[in-house]
Amino acid sequence: MSEGLKETRVKHEFGSSETERKLDCLRSYLAAYSVALSKQSFARIYIDAFAGTGDRTETRAALPSFFNGNVGSVDEITTPGSARIAIETAPAFHSIALIENDPEKVIALRAIAEEYPNRRLHIREGDANAEVQRICNRYSWKKERMRGVIFLDPYGMEVSWDTVASIARTEALDCWYFFPLSGLYRNAPKDPLKLDQGKIDALNRVFGTDSWRQDWYATEEGLTDLLGDLFNRERRIVDADKIEEWVHARLKSVFKGTVLKPLRLKHANGAPMASLFFAVSNPSKAAVKVATDIANHILKAGI
Ligand SMILES: C[S@@+](CC[C@H](N)C(=O)[O-])C[C@H]1O[C@@H](n2cnc3c(N)ncnc32)[C@H](O)[C@@H]1O
Repeated sequence: MSEGLKETRVKHEFGSSETERKLDCLRSYLAAYSVALSKQSFARIYIDAFAGTGDRTETRAALPSFFNGNVGSVDEITTPGSARIAIETAPAFHSIALIENDPEKVIALRAIAEEYPNRRLHIREGDANAEVQRICNRYSWKKERMRGVIFLDPYGMEVSWDTVASIARTEALDCWYFFPLSGLYRNAPKDPLKLDQGKIDALNRVFGTDSWRQDWYATEEGLTDLLGDLFNRERRIVDADKIEEWVHARLKSVFKGTVLKPLRLKHANGAPMASLFFAVSNPSKAAVKVATDIANHILKAGI
């Protein structure tokens, strides 16, 4: 690594212990997938649409020391993020695309690329939606004997439905999608009067449809106010479980292989944070079997 890059490398602090669970699922899947597909003559591709820096820094309360009395201090722990996990997967992917829109994180990714001169790493600075759609639409994946895995790991509701649909159309990519349930909750308030145009647009973009509105909201009739007068009001009638089922069905509408029941990740207070979905775009029975045998095992172990 050059000194210049070393100096400018940024720390990426994000996530919780649930982040480790998510990354463990990815790590286990990539390892087993790579072994399974290495017996066949496919070019194995990995795409990280929200790559970060390649590493994850977390601060944890330090263990108390008898000698220097460091009660209340914190330890900084750095562990591999998704990009480094993919790069270190053995047997190695033939090609890895790392997409990131933050220039400082891109510098960190370039520094990591220097650590692995023998890997074919393509670092793209730009918007994940534009880049993923470009990559997916550019190749005849099946004809060119390309197979792979894509990881969608946004902070929130950044992934557009057009991107999801372009992945599904490759019929060659398996997709891990960290789906932001808490983002949905914020954008779909119980009281629809709080549903402003920004929230409606965000939901339409994530789902590629506005049908969530009629499926999630209903009019409650015959309610009485404090004075005993009757009134009707529209409310969101679905909870996190129902919303997750709805998202599952929506993903199934485009992924011709399968979409598995997701792993639910939670905030420290127990509130739903995200659902980790696994979807197979390849409709071939053999491909679905390989992918789901591995992923089912991982998702069940993660629950
Ligand atoms: C949750 S972090 C990803 C963490 C990463 N997968 C890891 O394990 O290290 C989300 C990343 O997406 C980037 N990002 C946010 N919006 C983006 C966009 N529209 N296009 C590309 N990257 C984006 C952020 O800068 C951030 O690094």
